[in-house]
Amino acid sequence: MSSQDSLQLETLAVRAGQERSQFGEHAEALYLTSSFVFDNAAQAAARFSGAEAGNVYSRFTNPTVTMFQERLAALEGAEDCIATASGMAAILSTVMALLQVGDHVVVSRGTFGSTQQLFSNIMPRFGVEASFVAGTDPAAFRSACKPNTKLVFIETPSNPLTEIYDIAALADVAHAANALLIVDNCFCSPALQRPIEFGADLVVHSATKYLDGQGRVLGGAVCGKRTHTEEVFKFLRTAGPTLSAFNAWVILKGLETLKIRMLAQSANALELARRLEANPAVARVFYPGLTSHPQHELAMRQQVTGGGIVAFEVKGGREEAWRVVDNCKWLSITANLGDTKTTITHPSSTTHGRISAEAREEAGIQESLLRIAVGLEAVDDIEADLSRGLNG
Ligand SMILES: Cc1ncc(COP(=O)(O)O)c(C=O)c1O
Repeated sequence: MSSQDSLQLETLAVRAGQERSQFGEHAEALYLTSSFVFDNAAQAAARFSGAEAGNVYSRFTNPTVTMFQERLAALEGAEDCIATASGMAAILSTVMALLQVGDHVVVSRGTFGSTQQLFSNIMPRFGVEASFVAGTDPAAFRSACKPNTKLVFIETPSNPLTEIYDIAALADVAHAANALLIVDNCFCSPALQRPIEFGADLVVHSATKYLDGQGRVLGGAVCGKRTHTEEVFKFLRTAGPTLSAFNAWVILKGLETLKIRMLAQSANALELARRLEANPAVARVFYPGLTSHPQHELAMRQQVTGGGIVAFEVKGGREEAWRVVDNCKWLSITANLGDTKTTITHPSSTTHGRISAEAREEAGIQESLLRIAVGLEAVDDIEADLSRGLNG
């Protein structure tokens, strides 16, 4: 496929990045090999030095991984993409590549628990300090910036409360501080939101989620301008948090159905959110596709749909929330999201259990909160499984 072709996302998801071997295979090939052979010593030297393009060793070059990287870059509208072993490896590799001792980062409180752990417990040991900002107000992010701020890190919609951050406004805030804006695009995927179009410098992914879409493998990716991704590549080549060829192949094929899954799961999520909102046992529903969501308009400006994640507070506390979980007959009690199978999580005791109670409080994650990652099952069945503990 020529880079001159201007193809739509659905077409790119199926076609972009494919490199056929001499055998002319129709589906993308899986190259399970740790290293690659050279014709002679001079070629080996040229490949190692980078003077000649080509594969060397699967810690940093593998054709299946390259196909995945090129396809995801095309979907995100990014110049380049580097694949990593997991979503957290993508965030870690970006931070290790772009920061040094004495730097400062501004991180949204509405980010994944491990992201907050990384910035609050691990990076300070390497001389990188973080300020956490609660809420979505760009002015609060502006106030948190310092002369040594290098990155502003957000996730939108956030996990689990589906808060929406104004990507264009926060890109302006970051750029005014000479910093880069990084967006974790896990909840939407490029099928629903393309942060680079709104001014983000880098997009990170947990490919484990919607990009695979069927809960099979871990993976991650960093997309953006080559000046930044080259640094990520150098870190990956040396330090090794690399995506395996097998996982790349699984996720590459997952991308082919990304849009169709995202639209169907979003439609299910919207219907479930409406029904939960009407349920007397439910105190509050968080879903960007509902007109009651405080940032519904912003969400609809940035996103194609509300996405597949619905969070809601039951009336009561932990006991009532756990009763809903424990009475589910077939909804999967698991922390993963982005699967075709609907999953249910109690965030304050699982995904956000390791952050402090004050940080949870600041982020608005109550004991009564449940997160549903809506899959492709019939919405009547999902509602019925939840109702056993909710209305029983
Ligand atoms: C929003 C978000 N970002 C990053 C991650 C980390 O991804 P991984 O589990 O692939 O390391 C997760 C995992 O749940 C997530 O939900």
